[in-house]
Amino acid sequence: MSNATQLLQNIPIDPLTGALAVPIYQTSTYVQHAPGINKGYDYSRTNNPTRETLEKIAAQLENGKIGAAFASGLAAIDAVVKLLKSGDEIIAVDDIYGGAYRLFTKVYEQYGIAIKFVDASEHENIFNAVSEKTKLIWIETPTNPTLKIADIAAIAKIAKANGCLLCVDNTFASPALQQPLSLGADIVVHSATKYLGGHSDVIQGCLMINDTALREKLYFIQKSCGAVPGPMDCFLVLRGIKTLHIRMQRHCENGKKIAHFLRIHPKVKTVYWCGFEDHPGYTIAKKQMRDFGGMMSFELKNDTAEEVKRVLSSTQLFSLAESLGGVESLINHPATMTHASIPREERIKNGLNDGLIRLSVGIEDAEDLIDDLNNALG
Ligand SMILES: Cc1ncc(COP(=O)(O)O)c(C=O)c1O
Repeated sequence: MSNATQLLQNIPIDPLTGALAVPIYQTSTYVQHAPGINKGYDYSRTNNPTRETLEKIAAQLENGKIGAAFASGLAAIDAVVKLLKSGDEIIAVDDIYGGAYRLFTKVYEQYGIAIKFVDASEHENIFNAVSEKTKLIWIETPTNPTLKIADIAAIAKIAKANGCLLCVDNTFASPALQQPLSLGADIVVHSATKYLGGHSDVIQGCLMINDTALREKLYFIQKSCGAVPGPMDCFLVLRGIKTLHIRMQRHCENGKKIAHFLRIHPKVKTVYWCGFEDHPGYTIAKKQMRDFGGMMSFELKNDTAEEVKRVLSSTQLFSLAESLGGVESLINHPATMTHASIPREERIKNGLNDGLIRLSVGIEDAEDLIDDLNNALG
């Protein structure tokens, strides 16, 4: 049975009523027969049946045994960092989501957790950066927003050899295209706000793991710090997951057409998309991903601030907005939007230029999207 079929089979039918859709248990608490004697639920911060189902299904999506859902992708990232203590060190990919950068540098550095950023597209850079203080290696692949690729299996070996955890932010690829736990990662994190939810109507995060010792620690953090999603949001992500595989297929088809269109457009200087055979990470991407996705970024030949702003404001089908992974196409300016929290100098050093434009290609008709970009490019 294929993954997609298996997944639909695994979503349980409500034993009480036969409801095919997972019920939204909109309750904060549960009546107990006697103190401590209950039906497995006592308080919804600790556990909730809708969230529990989502956590199981999300774990299965990533070939994991255990899932934990959070109020946002950043809350999930935060829970992973809370596994560390003062004096520990994180090695993180340099081309990183701006919010993760802000959390690591502005929140956790002040608690004594050190961060080193390295270009993870050469795994030797990680090998060279690891010290005895390193407790966590943090990668995104493809990276947000310049689509660099890191070799998950090779980095997992470095993590194992040095007794540290490897966490992969798999938001860009989604589990339909890439499953880092199967390649040796210890933790997968998702902004479920993106492809898992898929409809730009929910903020949520998920962690997926296999290790039961880690499970106790993460559930302890989830319960103690309390950044849990509500049942309605869990329902929405569960509903999104049902169509993930088919949506991803279309995102990939459209992504490929648009990346090739942009590449030969006379006004475009560079396109960053990991499906190009001459992309430096292509061989690794092909090895660890089923397809190349619908995320890409590009730079204009005329990359003056005015022209970049004009293009960003001229599309009709691509909406100018933060976020990604929804069915509707989005256009974004990382330097002033999603990655504004990274200091300019740092950003440019990592290849994120002022003129970079990011696209989240949706599931509309590719020809319409191409016409829209063509008109906006002028
Ligand atoms: C790659 C990546 N990871 C994590 C996050 C954070 O997720 P959320 O916005 O759900 O907190 C984002 C948000 O854009 C992201 O793009």
